[in-house]
Amino acid sequence: MPDYLITWIHLIAATTLIGGLVFVQFVLNPSAHQNPPDPKTKEMVRLAGRRFRTLAWVCLITLILTGSYQMLNESGSARIETEWGVVLMLKLFLFVIAFGLILIHDFILDPHTPPQKKTINPPAFIPYSRADNLQKAIILMTLAVLLVASYLTTI
Ligand code: HEM
Repeated sequence: MPDYLITWIHLIAATTLIGGLVFVQFVLNPSAHQNPPDPKTKEMVRLAGRRFRTLAWVCLITLILTGSYQMLNESGSARIETEWGVVLMLKLFLFVIAFGLILIHDFILDPHTPPQKKTINPPAFIPYSRADNLQKAIILMTLAVLLVASYLTTI
């Protein structure tokens, strides 16, 4: 596959991930916290959030695969030892932090539970504000990765 197509897929995954995270955090979630609370809206927002979670994981895996391909294919060991390599390592370091936060969010703070369990245990079991703060931290980290990636293109 031509290199530009790999970069294209890398960029689609990055924009879908960051755009989706921002949409869920600043558009979708606030809709669930209207006054007075509407259970139907809450459920719809919860389902939409779950659906995006699957897409987010597809984006993450795509980023890792296409990013690794670009790294191995175009860089070569000589380029890794230059400033480009150092900045790339910084980008990967930030990505690993973002990835770790996503793991904590999806598997510890807000794990997926089947719908029948949800009715027995109401949403009070989910530490909402902690999951919410973590989501904001994830957005910040992915934006930091994007900033370093933009700088990388100028070297
Ligand atoms: C949130 C995660 C990520 C974002 C937002 C992101 C974003 C970007 C952007 C905007 C570019 C510039 C494309 C270009 O103009 O060439 C890029 C390139 C690149 N990315 Fe990522 N990326 C992410 C994750 C990763 C990962 C996990 C890897 C490695 C495993 C990776 C490796 C690379 C490489 C090697 C390049 C080419 C740099 C160059 O040609 O100078 N990226 N990325």
